[in-house]
Amino acid sequence: MSVAIALNHSSYDLVVQQLIPGYASLARLAVALLAASPLAAASGSEVLVAGCGTGAELLEARSQRPDWQLTAIDPAAEMLAVARQRLGEAGLDSPQIAGGGITWCQSTVEELDAQAAFDGALSVLVLQSLADDGAKLAFLTALARSLRPGGQLVLVDLMRSERSPLQAQVEQAWLGFQRASGLSGAAEALDALSQGLHPIGLARLTALVNAAGFSDPALVFKALDVEGFLLQRQA
Ligand SMILES: C[S@@+](CC[C@H](N)C(=O)[O-])C[C@H]1O[C@@H](n2cnc3c(N)ncnc32)[C@H](O)[C@@H]1O
Repeated sequence: MSVAIALNHSSYDLVVQQLIPGYASLARLAVALLAASPLAAASGSEVLVAGCGTGAELLEARSQRPDWQLTAIDPAAEMLAVARQRLGEAGLDSPQIAGGGITWCQSTVEELDAQAAFDGALSVLVLQSLADDGAKLAFLTALARSLRPGGQLVLVDLMRSERSPLQAQVEQAWLGFQRASGLSGAAEALDALSQGLHPIGLARLTALVNAAGFSDPALVFKALDVEGFLLQRQA
């Protein structure tokens, strides 16, 4: 089984909840964190959802902050189409909303032509899929460039954890979580996940985000190896 099969656009919403402990709360927490940031707290703030996938963060943003002017970007046409349909059917992509309709871009963050336009950004489970061969740095640099100075980014990703004598038990627990959540082929899915993704440790993440123009990452969430960080673009 490949990650592309496990996480294709039609099965994504179910499978991601079976794979990742706490996924159901991630978007809610990410939006609440950004909403408390100095710039994005203001009414009508411009917020970028980078790698919006099927729209989890967008739905939550519309629920908590209907005044935000949202830009949603993702290079995958199928994911973007699912997100657009979901938000549209829920009546959440409309000029009647305080923040207006959502701006949709089929694009990577790196291709986005945004110069310090956004008050805040969300990036949930995206950086992990980029290799640490310059691609992660390019993604983070583009995010920093897209934010106004002082703008904050909520970054959630699969991290490479410190090995401990209890690591085998942790990995068994993750598989147990996935089986109990009804994921068939949990071991294969986890194996494919670890092959298809490029998790890094905290020291490397800190070096990359600093090079990109962000402050040190503040840890705000951790469930097994999935960690969430709050970052601020340096002035
Ligand atoms: C695992 S999904 C996460 C989707 C959503 N954020 C969530 O948490 O459900 C990762 C998404 O990031 C998108 N993506 C990958 N590389 C990207 C890039 N360089 N810029 C923006 N989005 C990217 C993929 O197309 C995919 O839809």
